Amino acid sequence: MKAELFDFSIPVDRHGTWCTQWDYVADRFGVADLLPFTISDMDFSTAPCVLEALQQRLAHGVLGYSRWNNDDFTGAISYWMQSRFACKIDPQTLVYGPSVIYMVAEMIRQWSAPGEGVVVHTPAYDAFYKTISGNERKLVSVPLRHGGREWHCDMVELEQVLAQPKNRVLLLCSPHNPTGKVWRREELETMAALCARYDVKVISDEIHMDMVWGDSVHTPWSSVARSPWALFTSASKSFNIPALTGAWGMIGDTDSREAWFQALKNRDGLSSPAVLAVVAHIAAYRDGAAWLDALHDYLQANLHSVADALNAAFPALNWQPPQSTYLAWIDLRPLGIDGQALQQELIHHQKVAIMPGETYGAEGLGFVRLNAGCPRAKLEQGVERLIAGIHAVI
Ligand SMILES: Cc1ncc(COP(=O)(O)O)c(C=O)c1O
Repeated sequence: MKAELFDFSIPVDRHGTWCTQWDYVADRFGVADLLPFTISDMDFSTAPCVLEALQQRLAHGVLGYSRWNNDDFTGAISYWMQSRFACKIDPQTLVYGPSVIYMVAEMIRQWSAPGEGVVVHTPAYDAFYKTISGNERKLVSVPLRHGGREWHCDMVELEQVLAQPKNRVLLLCSPHNPTGKVWRREELETMAALCARYDVKVISDEIHMDMVWGDSVHTPWSSVARSPWALFTSASKSFNIPALTGAWGMIGDTDSREAWFQALKNRDGLSSPAVLAVVAHIAAYRDGAAWLDALHDYLQANLHSVADALNAAFPALNWQPPQSTYLAWIDLRPLGIDGQALQQELIHHQKVAIMPGETYGAEGLGFVRLNAGCPRAKLEQGVERLIAGIHAVI
């Protein structure tokens, strides 16, 4: 199907669908009916091939218990990983779970004890903080630095942290939410060597792997790993199907994989996958490439429109679109504004919900995260209101 056949500019009214983004905005921002640019899902319908597959499955009518370990599902994953990332996967390593964070949480429990450290690059996706503290582990932060036009990790600092025996796990976010950093292969290889040296296991959350822009290339952790590893991902971000609840991954070693299935099926009673999520993944990975490529073009143009508008209003920001994700991580510190005053202005006067940067940890202070996964007309309104909000508090 030709890219022009997909039109992402048509708004879909999501009100009344119990969607977190629009219907529950008051839960986080205290006020209803704000124009939302918050949780990372998009305002677009999923790919037509996914909708057709779901409709066909629903038309069958029987939605009994199911299995994920079938050739259709594992074949679709192999095909996707090979065709998008030139990554040949070992089907023996494949695992399934209800969500990426559920899978991350289980591996943290398996690979560390209460009180031990989980190393995370910060700022970090807020659920990382919650799952690490919720499992009584200690979040050990390695701040990302911004230099030149890119975010990077100080490997000396990382080594000092990995060398401490209490720090058992590196929880990598690749690509990285919220900065959008795409890890270069050399950086991943350096981290893999350090983790092998200090016997640190690696959980790589690659849920944003399909949303990489420009010259950046996503390298799956499986292709650099040198110590025990688990890679978790899903089509949920790229095909906008997170509420179907389905994720998959790879766990490198047999013992950890068996322990994983023991926990999932026996301890937690989750033997059957959500069959609609399995159906959606098969369709997305087999037939969704053209839609995703068209979406890429649209989202990149969205991010460039954010840059153009912001930089025209505030040249000091010199904001550059991220290397990946539809999340605009905007550093407002050059303007010297009070972040709390800005939020009050955005919520109460501009009627817009934009994530305050500190949601993603202390390093996020002075930033905002604006979700650009929506039709351009909505995005333009949001950016206009952000600009007006900044003017009001500057
Ligand atoms: C890095 C990262 N991991 C995981 C998730 C959530 O995935 P799931 O709903 O499958 O747990 C998100 C959602 O924003 C994310 O950004």
